[in-house]
Amino acid sequence: MTPLIEIKGVTKRFPIGGVLSGRDVRAVDDATFAIGTGGPEIFTIIGESGSGKTTLARMILGLERPTSGEILFQGAPVTHRNRGERLAFMAKVQPVFQNPFEAFNPLKRVDRYLESTARQFLGLRDQPAVDAAMDAALQKVGLSLAELRGRFPHELSGGQLQRVAIARALIPNPLLLIADEPVSMVDASLRMAIVNLLRKLRDEMGVSVVYITHDLATAYYISDRLIIMQRGRIVEMGPARAILEAPEHPYSRLLKASVLSTEQAGDVTLTVTNDFDSAAAISPEGRLVARPDGRMVRVGSD
Ligand SMILES: Nc1ncnc2c1ncn2[C@@H]1O[C@H](COP(=O)(O)OP(=O)(O)OP(=O)(O)O)[C@@H](O)[C@H]1O
Ligand SMILES: [Mg+2]
Repeated sequence: MTPLIEIKGVTKRFPIGGVLSGRDVRAVDDATFAIGTGGPEIFTIIGESGSGKTTLARMILGLERPTSGEILFQGAPVTHRNRGERLAFMAKVQPVFQNPFEAFNPLKRVDRYLESTARQFLGLRDQPAVDAAMDAALQKVGLSLAELRGRFPHELSGGQLQRVAIARALIPNPLLLIADEPVSMVDASLRMAIVNLLRKLRDEMGVSVVYITHDLATAYYISDRLIIMQRGRIVEMGPARAILEAPEHPYSRLLKASVLSTEQAGDVTLTVTNDFDSAAAISPEGRLVARPDGRMVRVGSD
């Protein structure tokens, strides 16, 4: 089966201190993996702040170009030579962002967003067809057009608005959602509703999800496979539960330990920061080595 997305040796560098300084940061460093190889899946990207998760997501969405390496969608390079190609790709790979209140203009009614998406991607013109498409998408996320019509973003809770954002993303019938920390701004009590929704999209609608998070608990709960990133590099990759139950790379272990210590003790911020640094010192480079159980772990140094 052709994977949905293939990332082949992808590196993204950003110049720092001005283009002329000649310095750069490797936001993503030689990433190689595939998403949706054996059917729909929830593919999770975990890593500390600044480890390159969003940069990777933006490259998959075609919002950033890799400095080197290649990204394939259903076996073909993503080119976007013209608006038609761009739209066709966007219909299949849709984003869901972290803060729904930033994703929506506060002065624009939320149903207007759904409406323009339905018109743009589905080519619908007559109002009953547009309404039906909007309502169908909202029903998938447990809402309805009747309850949302005419409402402004601030009239909805963060959890409701994030579900509207997901409904909007579902209108073109995508194959893949790229959800960059979709629950971190949502009230804890509503988080599971969104997380369960992502699972339902996979199981009932065959939509794959790239789920970017800092939250190991929800990652454990919904992910099929995951990668752990540290400073732009993938340090561990494979079946989610196996990795989270027994992480092997020193950085992954520290990540897990820091979560446990948050539960057990109060003030861990300092410890965690120091630990991240020592993890980097333990294994700053190295290469990914395959284990018999399908896991890949970065070991040694080049
Ligand atoms: N447009 C840009 N210009 C310059 N540097 C950038 C740019 N975007 C990202 N970076 C840098 O690339 C690195 C990776 O950033 P990225 O936003 O991908 O991290 P992240 O893992 O998503 O972090 P967070 O968890 O905080 O969202 C960081 O060092 C960041 O400062
Ligand atoms: Mg980010």
